[in-house]
Amino acid sequence: DNSPLTALKQDYQTVRDFYHYILCKTAAGEQALNYLHQRQLSDETIDHFQIGYAPAANNTLVDLFQSREKNLQELVDSGLFAQSGQGKLFDRFRDRVMFPINDQSGSPIAFSGRILQMPAQSDQPVAKYLNSPETKIFNKSQTLFNLDEAKRSIRQLGEVILFEGFMDVISAYQAGIENGVASMGTSLTDQQLYTLNRLTKRIVICYDGDDPGIKAALRAMKLLRETDFEVGIVIIPSKQDPDEFIKSQGAQAFQTLVQKKSLTPTAFMIEYLSQQYDLTNDGAKVDFLNTALEYVVVDKSPVERELYIKQLAQRLNVSVRSIQQEVADKEREQV
Ligand code: GTP
Ligand code: MN
Ligand code: MN
Ligand code: MN
Ligand code: MN
Repeated sequence: DNSPLTALKQDYQTVRDFYHYILCKTAAGEQALNYLHQRQLSDETIDHFQIGYAPAANNTLVDLFQSREKNLQELVDSGLFAQSGQGKLFDRFRDRVMFPINDQSGSPIAFSGRILQMPAQSDQPVAKYLNSPETKIFNKSQTLFNLDEAKRSIRQLGEVILFEGFMDVISAYQAGIENGVASMGTSLTDQQLYTLNRLTKRIVICYDGDDPGIKAALRAMKLLRETDFEVGIVIIPSKQDPDEFIKSQGAQAFQTLVQKKSLTPTAFMIEYLSQQYDLTNDGAKVDFLNTALEYVVVDKSPVERELYIKQLAQRLNVSVRSIQQEVADKEREQV
């Protein structure tokens, strides 16, 4: 098969192998390999994800592709190069740790390149992660990092874990959790959920514990409301991300967090809202309760309601009966 698509996929395969070789077997890759070891990635993990290194020179791939019969347009369309004002091609990825992104059958179709160290200060903004542009073979909104490898485990466990970052997926893998995927640095899309929905009906959101992570989890929950997924949400303590948590608390603690401590969307909302209000203040308590009850009342079974009402009563140090009364009032308003 010599279709342009196949040719482009072959090029990505070549580049992935090349960058991986440079990382693992050459002096040029030493610093990047040290960086990954410092981040506690094992050689087995580096191999498993075929992580690589793009050297600092701006013509590593230019030279590699020189001898191949390709026209300029093909090279430009590959997404592996950038073009100067004069039209000269140079390598898009330079001095970056390269994470290959695969399609569902395991062929590399894009890269995400991480800078080794963020500059202390800089005139222009510097991207921590630089991603391949969309190409004929790479559609960001349809792609999930690690789906090719995670698929089997997702089916087997009946559950997928959704992370924010590549390093979180990779750390989780090292910690023995193999059903993790990540969306492509952008927010989650319908198409990604559709793909996952064909593999499993349970999804656990395990985003970073910082503010952007919590915001992203709220957005994901909204999207998931339109689906038939059963949803769990894990809050990583101390604003850490999963990778940092695994490093500081260990693989076992992380497994416990994911397997035993995930919250329902309603419990997550209660937790989130309780942090938005000053619950030492009576006025704020009432506002909190009114907002939280919107979530407790909608689409809930009697048992679920009772559970959440108990939780709210405990949090606010008021009686269950008084909250039940509020709920009854709200329902009357709704009719
Ligand atoms: P590490 O610092 O390597 O542990 O990365 P991280 O995954 O913890 O990054 P962070 O929590 O800061 O951001 C979450 C995700 O957003 C990353 O995994 C990327 O997918 C994406 N992201 C972060 N920085 C950038 C950036 O500069 N450019 C782009 N395109 N995406 C980014
Ligand atoms: Mn290898
Ligand atoms: Mn973050
Ligand atoms: Mn993070
Ligand atoms: Mn991180």
